[in-house]
Parts: sequence; C-alpha cells; structure tokens
Amino acid sequence: MTDVSSKAANQMWGGRFAAGPDAIMEAINASIDFDRRLARQDIEGSRAHAAMLAATGIVSDSDAEAIREGLLTVLSEIEGGSFEFSAALEDIHMNVEARLKELIGEPAGRLHTARSRNDQVATDFRLWVRDQCDAAIDGLRALQEALLEQAEVGAGWVMPGFTHLQTAQPVTWGHHMMAYVEMFGRDLSRFQDARARMNECPLGAAALAGTSFPIDREATASALGFDRPMANSLDAVSDRDFALEFLAAASICAMHLSRLAEELVIWSSAQFRFVTLSDRFSTGSSIMPQKKNPDAAELIRAKIGRILGANIALLTVMKGLPLAYSKDMQEDKEQVFDAADTLMLALAAMTGMVSDMVANRDALAAAASSGFSTATDLADWLVRVLDLPFREAHHVTGSLVAMAEAQACDLPDLSLQDMQSVHAGITDAVFDVLGVENSVASRTSFGGTAPDQVRSRIAEWKTRIG
Ligand code: ARG
Repeated sequence: MTDVSSKAANQMWGGRFAAGPDAIMEAINASIDFDRRLARQDIEGSRAHAAMLAATGIVSDSDAEAIREGLLTVLSEIEGGSFEFSAALEDIHMNVEARLKELIGEPAGRLHTARSRNDQVATDFRLWVRDQCDAAIDGLRALQEALLEQAEVGAGWVMPGFTHLQTAQPVTWGHHMMAYVEMFGRDLSRFQDARARMNECPLGAAALAGTSFPIDREATASALGFDRPMANSLDAVSDRDFALEFLAAASICAMHLSRLAEELVIWSSAQFRFVTLSDRFSTGSSIMPQKKNPDAAELIRAKIGRILGANIALLTVMKGLPLAYSKDMQEDKEQVFDAADTLMLALAAMTGMVSDMVANRDALAAAASSGFSTATDLADWLVRVLDLPFREAHHVTGSLVAMAEAQACDLPDLSLQDMQSVHAGITDAVFDVLGVENSVASRTSFGGTAPDQVRSRIAEWKTRIG
C-alpha cells in the first residue's frame, strides 16, 4: 500500500477510510466558517434529542445528563469566543460533537444514536430561519409604526400623486404613507404564513429513511417549539422550501423597501424638497460643502440585490436535486444568512430614516397644485354638473389645460370667459373643484385619499398593531 496522505483519516467515519482528505477537498467541503452561526440551534437540537433518547430508554439517564451538561459547556465556550473551530471537522455538527467527546468522553458517542447530520442540519436550519421570520416580523412592525406616525402628522397635507412620475391627481401625505403601511403589512403576513408552514420538525428522519430505534418524534418536536414532526423522512431531510419561502417573502419585502428608498432619494432632492432627512441618516460630500446625501436610502435600494440574488441562487441549487440529501444543499446557508442580515439591516435603517424625516408641508402643497393636478376634478365636474359624456368632458378639459399651458398659468388661474370659450355651459361654480384641498376632500370612496378616509385607516391600523 502506498502512503496516500500524511493526514489521519476522519475521526467520525475513519473506519471506512485509509487516508484523510486532500487540502483542496477540505477547502471545498468545510462549512464551519459559516455554519458556526447555527451553533445555538445545533446545541438546542442535540439537547432535545438527548433528553428524548433517555426518556425512551435508548440511552441511560446518566449518559444523557452528561451529554446535556456537556453541550451547555460547549455553547458557553462558543458564545464566549474560546471555542476552537476546526475545518478538519467540516461543520458545526462535528465540531460540537468532537468537543463534547473531549469534555465528557464515551457518552458523547451515544448522542448520534438514531440521528444523522441530515436531519440534524435540517432541524438546525429550520430553527434559525424561524427566528429570522420572527425578527423580520418585529422589524416590519417597527417600520409600520414609524410610517403610521408620519401618516398621522400629515393625514390631511396635500401633495401631488404621480403616475409615470408625472403629476396625476392630488393626494395626501398621510395616504401616501399609509400605502406603505399596507404593503409592509402584507410582507409581515407573508413571514407569518411562512413561519407557520415551516414549523414542523425534521429531527428523527435520520439519514433519510427513519430509524429502527423507538424514538419519540412528538417529544423532540414539541421540545423545540415545533407544531409537529414532519410526516415523511425523505421530505424532511431533502427540502429547503422553508428557506426559499423566507427568501421569497424577503425578496418581496426588499422590493417594497427599495421603492420607498427610491422615493426618499427623489423627495429629498433640491428639486423636490418634499422631505428633509435627518443628519443621522445622511452623509456629506468631501468636496461639495452644500451636499447632504441620502446614502442610507441608496444603500437600501442597492443592497436589496443581495436578497433577490440569494433567492435565485438557492432555487438554482435545489432545482435539479434527486431525493434525498445531496451535499449541494450545504450551499443553502450562506445565501440565507446574507439575505437575512441584509433584510434586518435594511429594515432598521428604513425605520430610522422614516422616524427621523420631516415632511415639508409647504413644498408638498406647492407641488400639489402645479402640473394641472385637478384636471380630473374639472372633467368630473363637467360630467356631474353639465351632464357631458366623460369622453367629451375629457376633451374639453384637455383644451383648457392646453390653454393654461399657453398662458403659463394653472387651471384655477384661467378666467371664466376663457373657460366658456371652450364650453359655454361652464359656470363660476367650477372654481370650487379646481382647488387641491377640495379635490382630496372629495375622494371619499373607501380607500380613497380624503383625509377622513385616511384617518379611519390610521385608526384601524393602530388598533390592529396595538
Ligand atoms: N454540513 C452539512 C450541510 O450543511 C451537514 C449535512 C451533511 N450530511 C452528509 N451526509 N454529508 O448540509
């Protein structure tokens, strides 16, 4: 026999192996640099497993107790920063078990009875993603509260509403803020739905087929806060749809954050001046003394790409895998870790920016009445009062807009004679609907921008959020 490696065979599966791995094999194989983030979940899962092994008589009470105590020591070493992680031990599961063996000796070898790293990692990762759903839900609540506060302050403040980023019709600041409260509310419920669906426990599926030991899967599931054990062992170890649902919910939420970020960038510009962002969430320029840049908003807008990318990356990892476990699935974690970190940071930064920002009521009002924003009100008036068909009213209004444009004035500045030259039936009463305040006040349909409608929605959301 030739000497194939100077390295010792693996201590977990060395029985089958004569030589240790090549250095490149170790580099591509090891996940400990990132999956150490699962340490707490791994130890929680192992403690639940050990307790169940004792309760079912599969291991002795004294061995299980030694294991459970030892695992707490390992956790405190990891959290205290004194734990020495080893790439040779590949992942968090084997690092923890190897250290447990050093600490308590022989009983450590009994922990892996009726278990595989396949169900172990599926359980750890589910626990981790479940926590992230909770964190996203908390982050979204905080953001909704900040938006509600803004909406309350300016429930009746007029501003232009846009389509195509062209002035469309006047709306209120409160209405615009509440649009985001609704969006983030749906995001929040997506995380709640995903959390409820993922809350089943893979532990006990073992490698893929289940186990011949008389384990109690209900016990481990409930000890770990799951609603029930997963019903199919192949499915339990081989799907990562729970992580994908988290990423899908995160992607949609990220898209919403990015849209709001984009609005803040536009609104804080000198051309708009709709809002002033706080110094706390802005930066200056090293050369242009007047500059105050909305960097946090820009970075939120940009960082969202990482979340969308993670979603595609993990879908791509999973899409061609035969059942059950394949090592490809080790590539699930970094994507989800990075996406979750990015999402939590973006939510916190957005909440800070929204809480701190000050809407400029005068600039909003000035913009609201420019750009012929009440042209639709005029057309509606022609329909309502003069009984014109809407298409004709649209045409008459279009001619009046063209006339105002030619005179470089707004619709309310046209004289009655000018108006009557386009349509003889127009009376003085038309001027009542050309003001932006009247315009928004008239949009009383459910969900419309009338300040009373907006205040009702604010009150509803406040009781919902409590
Ligand atoms: N580090 C592995 C992962 O993250 C753990 C599961 C390994 N299982 C196996 N059969 N090699 O997926």
